[in-house]
Amino acid sequence: MNPKNTLICALAAALLSVSASVSSFAADAKSLYERLGGHAAVVAVVDDFTANVGADARINKYFAKSDMVRVKAKLVEQVGSATGGPEKYTGRSMKETHATMGVTDADFTALVEDLVKTLNKFKVPMKEQGELLAILGSLKPEIVTK
Ligand code: HEM
Repeated sequence: MNPKNTLICALAAALLSVSASVSSFAADAKSLYERLGGHAAVVAVVDDFTANVGADARINKYFAKSDMVRVKAKLVEQVGSATGGPEKYTGRSMKETHATMGVTDADFTALVEDLVKTLNKFKVPMKEQGELLAILGSLKPEIVTK
């Protein structure tokens, strides 16, 4: 093989090995949804979290007349799709849903505390807790109106 072809072969081999390691890295990078444990884990978190909210005297009045079966189902869809799962969110927008409630900053913090209680109970690692809270925290401007 002439030196030019040898160089081309070496470059091609190097490129192949880089692309193989990039794709195996991509295959290793699991979505937050997978790291949380998939659909069953999201359902369990939503169940426990909404039970905490229902028992939380700071905010449970908001939910007094709500259909909690629906709210739970919509939360599973929302958390599932926002974390990379196959679920599709079919509920109302966050703005529309919470528009007339007058949710305050303190209410929002209380709800996040109820969620963190659940995440700690299920031993969700800090990294995944942080990622989930960042996703949900980004919705705050659409939910807090007072
Ligand atoms: C990141 C925080 C929050 C998320 C992701 C969230 C998400 C949702 C979703 C998906 C629904 C169901 C929407 C539908 O029925 O189509 C819902 C309903 C509801 N949310 Fe939130 N919410 C958040 C914070 C809060 C806070 C802080 C409060 C008040 C303390 C609140 C009060 C309610 C109530 C009362 C309903 C039921 C509305 C009804 O009965 O029609 N939410 N929320």
